[in-house]
Amino acid sequence: MDKQFKRTLVTCALPYANGPIHIGHLAGVYVPADIYVRYLRMRGREVLYVCGSDEHGVPITIKARQQGCSPQDIVDRYHGIIKDSFEGLGIHFDIYGRTSSEVHARTSSGFFRKLYDEGKFITKESEQYYDPEAKTFLADRYIVGTCPKCGNEGAYGDQCEKCGSTLSPEELINPKSKLSGAAPVKKKTTHWYLPLQDYEPWLREWILEGHTEWRSNVYGQVKSWLDGGLQPRAVTRDLDWGVPVPVEGAEGKVLYVWFDAPIGYISNTKELLPDSWEKWWKSPDTRLVHFIGKDNIVFHCIIFPSMLKAYGDGFILPDNVPANEFLNLEGDKISTSRGWAVWAHEYLRDFPGKEDVLRYVLTANAPETKDNDFSWKDFQQRNNSELVAIFGNFVNRAMVLTHKYFGGKVPACGPLEDIDKEVLAEIPALKASMEKNIEGFKFREALKDAMGIARVGNKYISDTEPWKVAKTDLERTATILNLSLQICADLAIAFEPFTPFAAKRLREMLGSPLDWEILGRPQLLPAGHQLGEAQLLFAKIEDDVIDVQLARLDAIRAEREAAAKAEAAKQVAPQKDECTFDEFEKMDIRTATVLEAERVPKTDKLLKLTIDTGIDRRVIVSGIAEYYSPEAMVGKQICILANLKPRTIRGIESHGMILMAKQGDGSMRFITPEEAVCNGAQVG
Ligand code: 2FM
Ligand code: ZN
Repeated sequence: MDKQFKRTLVTCALPYANGPIHIGHLAGVYVPADIYVRYLRMRGREVLYVCGSDEHGVPITIKARQQGCSPQDIVDRYHGIIKDSFEGLGIHFDIYGRTSSEVHARTSSGFFRKLYDEGKFITKESEQYYDPEAKTFLADRYIVGTCPKCGNEGAYGDQCEKCGSTLSPEELINPKSKLSGAAPVKKKTTHWYLPLQDYEPWLREWILEGHTEWRSNVYGQVKSWLDGGLQPRAVTRDLDWGVPVPVEGAEGKVLYVWFDAPIGYISNTKELLPDSWEKWWKSPDTRLVHFIGKDNIVFHCIIFPSMLKAYGDGFILPDNVPANEFLNLEGDKISTSRGWAVWAHEYLRDFPGKEDVLRYVLTANAPETKDNDFSWKDFQQRNNSELVAIFGNFVNRAMVLTHKYFGGKVPACGPLEDIDKEVLAEIPALKASMEKNIEGFKFREALKDAMGIARVGNKYISDTEPWKVAKTDLERTATILNLSLQICADLAIAFEPFTPFAAKRLREMLGSPLDWEILGRPQLLPAGHQLGEAQLLFAKIEDDVIDVQLARLDAIRAEREAAAKAEAAKQVAPQKDECTFDEFEKMDIRTATVLEAERVPKTDKLLKLTIDTGIDRRVIVSGIAEYYSPEAMVGKQICILANLKPRTIRGIESHGMILMAKQGDGSMRFITPEEAVCNGAQVG
């Protein structure tokens, strides 16, 4: 397919600069894009790799307000953290730009202005929420209130994060402005809209007919949007953070973040290549590929292409949009607000020298066709039993044995036996499969192919046992090690896209080249070639290292469960049916003191309490063992229903009932007089 293109422009979704990136971002967008780019480069293709920070949008302004700083401070901080994380993981963009840059303001503003001048927008007046105290319009996120679905008091005007419902501000009970706490009022405002419905026939033809090869999740989402009917989409907002709308009378309005962000791909290219950027954006010889997560599909497949189409002027459209699904963490959705994530910068801090391991695991487990799960045990297992035990072990055996028997020089290859020929035949097949898979954006499969080469090598060296052969036949040993080393050199090429750090170290050890075309060629390393020192490519990860990570997540889970419990405890049971005073008077409620307490054998919940009621000394069996130990009860003054008809519980006659306050989560506390009183005092 890409033979007709001369070059490839690869863009990665611009991450919001309001928080660090995590494994979900990496698995969804950046690791696959990096594999693709490294592969194309290795094949000598002309590639431009563009990304940058998305620095506008309401959440950034909210964070700034929360932290008492400016939005610019926020984006400055996270732009740096995110950029460093990418670098640390070997993801080197040609440019990692920023949408708060000068070039971007000019480019996006100019883009809007051209569409405006050409009448490509419609304007609409609508009523939107306004904060009468702060004197500003409120984005949906700035309005909080009670969720009509689950009662969460902190629901946002666009979404309840507790029950996950999508909301509109109108639905919130008791809506309040996050800025001033005032009740928002409706006020008229005018915005510019891109009439997406006008582009629908064209989108159908371009994608539904013209790009049937796109991933089914992408194609399916596009189809369902188009089948649902497109509506005009507002491209401006009432906000004071963003690119100002370049039109008279639009004071206090900025471009909608999803209008300006994708233009960021163009402005970042311009920033890098002020004189030749058009070659990348306006030439039919350029193949444009957007790497994104599934939540970005509509913006990259419908809205941005419609913007480019409206703009005209030769802008190219994406040739493919290989969006991934989501990655979960230990069975739960990754959540930035709940801290349920593995952050890239923390991983780099905690696992120095293990950048490749994360890349490897996120690819082996990539959510390419469905949501997938990351677990630390799987991470450890893949490192120890795949990278260390197969790839690393094979390379190490080949290197160490060559040093031992041949002074570290590639030994000459003698006559080939059947096993040698079979092994050599497997490499080109795996290489061809890798090519097909990477070019078809099937990176998991491609990684299996690369690992297949390591498996072939590892099996070959195990089957041929050169360390035994060396005792009797050094010539045969030479052939086995020669072929093993050739396979090592193949691996140093095949793994370059996936584990670039290890691949580079391996090439340095072998003194071998990085060139896709020679992968699988016989005698890639000439006989007599001097190898470097043997070094381990990967190291085992022990349980204690994984346990630290699991403990961190356990603590977050426990905290979340405690918060949920506290919330549940607050739920109050509805009032019971009326009773008369006489009915109440029938109940003889008294104070009493616990004299003895013991667990009722073979139960978790029951305590047998011997109490002094002031009238008598009696036994009551009570279901409070979950909340109080026997020791904690002795000496406590409590209240009892003294005249409850005796009941036999677990063979013990119980004479009365202890009064307990029961909370929404079922937990209980006994009732005690505010000050000690005599036993037998009547309660009523
Ligand atoms: O979802 C996100 O993280 C967005 N910041 C992606 C923007 S992609 C592009 F359009 F800039
Ligand atoms: Zn809710």
